[in-house]
Amino acid sequence: MVKPLKILLLSALALGAWATISARAAVVGISLPNDLKDYRWLQDGRILKEDLEAAGHEVLLEYAGQNNEQLQLKQIASLIEREVAVLLIAPVNCDSMGETLEQAKLKGIPIIAYDRLINGTDAISYYLSFDNQRIGVMQGHYLERQLGLEGAIEPRHLEIFSGDGNDSNAKYLYDGAMSVLAPYLKSGMLKVSSGETSLRQTAIKDWQLEVANTRMTTLIAKHGYSSHRSRLDAVLSPNDSIAQGVIKALLAAGYNQRNIPLVTGLDCLPKSVKLLSEGLQAMSAFKDSKVMAKEAVKMVNAITSGQEVDINDLDSYHNGAGPIPAVLLTPLMVTRDNVAHTLFDKGYFNEQDIKNLP
Ligand code: BGC
Repeated sequence: MVKPLKILLLSALALGAWATISARAAVVGISLPNDLKDYRWLQDGRILKEDLEAAGHEVLLEYAGQNNEQLQLKQIASLIEREVAVLLIAPVNCDSMGETLEQAKLKGIPIIAYDRLINGTDAISYYLSFDNQRIGVMQGHYLERQLGLEGAIEPRHLEIFSGDGNDSNAKYLYDGAMSVLAPYLKSGMLKVSSGETSLRQTAIKDWQLEVANTRMTTLIAKHGYSSHRSRLDAVLSPNDSIAQGVIKALLAAGYNQRNIPLVTGLDCLPKSVKLLSEGLQAMSAFKDSKVMAKEAVKMVNAITSGQEVDINDLDSYHNGAGPIPAVLLTPLMVTRDNVAHTLFDKGYFNEQDIKNLP
């Protein structure tokens, strides 16, 4: 008698579990800004898709070509039309999505702003990102320490680069770094020969390596930066693609491992990990896409099963329509001194593969 009861109970449990899983299984729409040659977004898309599918969801993943704003709006409109259960969006333009996202709101589709905040709309339910303002602070502190700004008696020389003007992360990174560096600019202990210090003056379209390279090459020619002429101690670069363009220009101007100015970055792109291990890039921050995808799955599961979403920040990030409840993650700080220990020894990258990169 006990046995059938046990079977009955087990089947009921299995049925219950199945019901919970099937209640959660949903179609998730993902819209990412850039694909071509772009390691960062290709990697995020691949891992997100794998993890969401492993959790039983169906994934519709769209890439907006190469930062094509209009294409992204069309793709999102079509995901909304297909009535996906949740939308994850990393926008090309953080300020131009309001109208398209109104439709999602009308249909009751929750939206998670992924990595980049979406501004000027109350259609956003959550923000999931590594804390970009905090990364800017990290970059600023790194330069402050390495340049010995505290207590310095003679000025240090800096040039500043920022991200794309349509990406709110450009502003968060800039504001974070400036919260540390601005007092030194004011006191004259940090000098920027170009005089270009505002976000607008230093923005690099689409965060492009080539655009950064052209600007750095121009700055070098204009101000005579070189190891034996006009002094340049550091370049504040918000991410790795821009850092790569800057470093390429510095190497072309004759700098080498021993005298290259400190260049900051973000993302730990494979090529930048190589530059870090060669001592050519000074620091980067590692945003582990796997950690972010894990959080995304948790959020989607909670939303689709009607549970409360576990957030860790209520009001640090405002999008113009109000504060957005957020899951903010902390990246690993990687420098040319700790790259082996932080990225190779822990298995994030294979040292030989990195060495073999062109
Ligand atoms: C991301 C960075 C990335 C940049 C360019 C920013 O919004 O936060 O990690 O390097 O976009 O793709």
